[in-house]
Amino acid sequence: MNVQLNMKIVLAGVEATHKLGVYLGKSLDAPTIILLEGDLGVGKTSLVQGIGKGLGITESIVSPTFTLINEYTEGRIPLYHLDLYRLSSSEVVQLNLETYWEGIDTTPGIVAIEWSERMPYKPHDYINLCFTHAHKGVRQVEIAVCNCALPQALLDFTQNYAHESK
Ligand SMILES: Nc1ncnc2c1ncn2[C@@H]1O[C@H](COP(=O)(O)OP(=O)(O)OP(=O)(O)O)[C@@H](O)[C@H]1O
Ligand SMILES: [Mg+2]
Repeated sequence: MNVQLNMKIVLAGVEATHKLGVYLGKSLDAPTIILLEGDLGVGKTSLVQGIGKGLGITESIVSPTFTLINEYTEGRIPLYHLDLYRLSSSEVVQLNLETYWEGIDTTPGIVAIEWSERMPYKPHDYINLCFTHAHKGVRQVEIAVCNCALPQALLDFTQNYAHESK
């Protein structure tokens, strides 16, 4: 495994979480795998909603906790939104998630996986976002980029968002 970057971003409210997603959705290439870790209610779905907006998806993005996978094809590239919360590691293996990043039966897009802690193995290259609760409802996200380039969107967000939100 080659972790090329580790950075932390403070997200002062849900608007910041959405906006980080918008930056990613506007610029990430296909295929990109985003692994989303963190406790219940920490902001994983909120980030994916921002990604959808950045991709140009107008359909509302809802949590796939019960459907496991929601696919959105309306945007710039497809968005595959998964939530593994209710699954065991062996059930995750049976899902053959590789099909989403090998692009054999699916059009390559952004694959965003909530509760990726449930995965017994990881893809070769991915962006890992680990959310934690900070003080007074604020969230912190720790980002690690593995075997892929640092998305410019992350730097743009950290440089621009503080000014935009004033
Ligand atoms: N940066 C933030 N600061 C404060 N509240 C936030 C932030 N980001 C998201 N929230 C709020 O946290 C709540 C839960 O968010 P969300 O549904 O995205 O969490 P989740 O991690 O997907 O939860 P689950 O594990 O149940 O899927 C929402 O009410 C959302 O508005
Ligand atoms: Mg969620």
